[in-house]
Parts: sequence; structure tokens; C-alpha cells
Amino acid sequence: MTPYFGLLEVGKPEAGQTVLVSAAAGAVGSLVGQIAKIQGCRAVGIAGTAEKCRWLVEELGFDAAINYRTESDLVAAIGNACPQGVDVYFDNVGGEVLDATLLNLNKDARIIFCGAISSYNSTGPVPGPFNYWQILARSATLKGYLVSDHLDQFPQGIAQMREWVGEGRIQFKEHIVDGLENTLQAFNLLFEGRNEGKVIVRVAT
Ligand SMILES: NC(=O)c1ccc[n+]([C@@H]2O[C@H](COP(=O)([O-])OP(=O)(O)OC[C@H]3O[C@@H](n4cnc5c(N)ncnc54)[C@H](OP(=O)(O)O)[C@@H]3O)[C@@H](O)[C@H]2O)c1
Repeated sequence: MTPYFGLLEVGKPEAGQTVLVSAAAGAVGSLVGQIAKIQGCRAVGIAGTAEKCRWLVEELGFDAAINYRTESDLVAAIGNACPQGVDVYFDNVGGEVLDATLLNLNKDARIIFCGAISSYNSTGPVPGPFNYWQILARSATLKGYLVSDHLDQFPQGIAQMREWVGEGRIQFKEHIVDGLENTLQAFNLLFEGRNEGKVIVRVAT
């Protein structure tokens, strides 16, 4: 439900627009791009390995993917992958990726502030986005988003996602770790980028 309501209710993508998403090969991000494609948008993902980028483009139908760990100039890489600019940015990570995206926004762009995983483990002050003022310069909107604000709409969202999954238009991966005692190890997969899809701890069979 997180990608569904974040993209559609907050991002409000229109057909032909460009949707960029970070942590794109993750549980949330991989669905954001696929829902964007269903809406007739150009979907571009940012992820941390070549294999994740390959999966996004070749198997999920993203139009382009950027490996943020190997790109020396992320601003230019986003510009190349989004030649018409970014209309909707679904932000799961914050930090340098957000900063580079701010310089590629179109006028009236929408940023869905869904997560900031790059700073969850920081113990000191985290620098604010250096290019923060671009939100003003491009008349953009940045909205903090919590999926729990949409609880009353879940039945409708679940029905729509079930339909798309049934039609084969949405694919997803689950990364299952067995045993409650392995919960911390499973949680840490998220910060190391070693999860493939939704991390689930199985406590009983
Ligand atoms: N607002 C809400 O209601 C809501 C609800 C659920 C989740 N969330 C947020 O949504 C985001 C995605 O959650 P998820 O469960 O789907 O996790 P996920 O995307 O499956 O896993 C997290 C991914 O983040 C990437 N990552 C880790 N450290 C990073 C860094 N320093 N910079 C850039 N990318 C980094 C890793 O992939 P790479 O290999 O690509 O680095 C990792 O696989 C999280 O920020 C989470 O807190 C928000």
C-alpha cells in the first residue's frame, strides 16, 4: 500500500510525465515504477547494483535505471535518464540522491518524502539538502507521506493491486529470513542493500 497511495495520491502522476524513484529495486520502489508504467509515465529507478538495475529495466519494464554507487556525476546521470526532466520524485533515501534530483526537477514537480534510509543510522547532525532552494525555484511541492494516513482507503488499494498482480502487470520479490532470532540480521539487510524485495521474517510455517 505504501507505493500505491504515495505515488497516486501524493505524486499524482499524469500520463507522459517522468517518475523517478530511489531504492528502486526495494519492496516499495519496485512497485512505484511498475505503477508509474501502468499510469503511462516514464519510469526511472535509482539502485545500488548493476544486477538490480538490470532487473528493473529488463524484467519490470522500467525505462531506465541508474546505479548511484558507480555514477561519478549523479546530476548528469539523472538528466540523461530523464531527458524531459523529473515531474514526480518518490524519495526513499534522502541524502545525496535527493540533492542530485532537486537539480533535475521540472516546474511544479512533486516530491513524495516516503523515507530517508541514507540517514536512519546517522548519530550526528545530517546536512540538509544543499539544493533545497530548488524547491522554491521550480515551484515544487515536497510532502511528508505516511501510508498509515490512508488506512481507510486500504480496501480499495488492495483490490486494485490484487487485480494488477492477477493480470501479471505487477511483479514483486519477497526476501524471507527464517526465525525470530534472526530479525536484527534481516533488518540490517535493508541498510546494506542486500535484500531482494520485501524483507519478511518467518516465525512459523
Ligand atoms: N512513509 C511510509 O509510510 C513508509 C512505509 C514503508 C516504508 N517506508 C520507507 O520506504 C523506504 C523503502 O522501504 P522498503 O521496506 O521498501 O526497503 P527496501 O527499499 O526494500 O530496502 C532498502 C533499500 O535502500 C537502499 N539503501 C540503503 N542504504 C542506502 C543509502 N545510504 N542510500 C541510498 N539507498 C540506500 C538499499 O538498496 P540499494 O542497493 O539500492 O542501495 C536497500 O535495499 C524506506 O526508507 C522506508 O523507511 C516508508
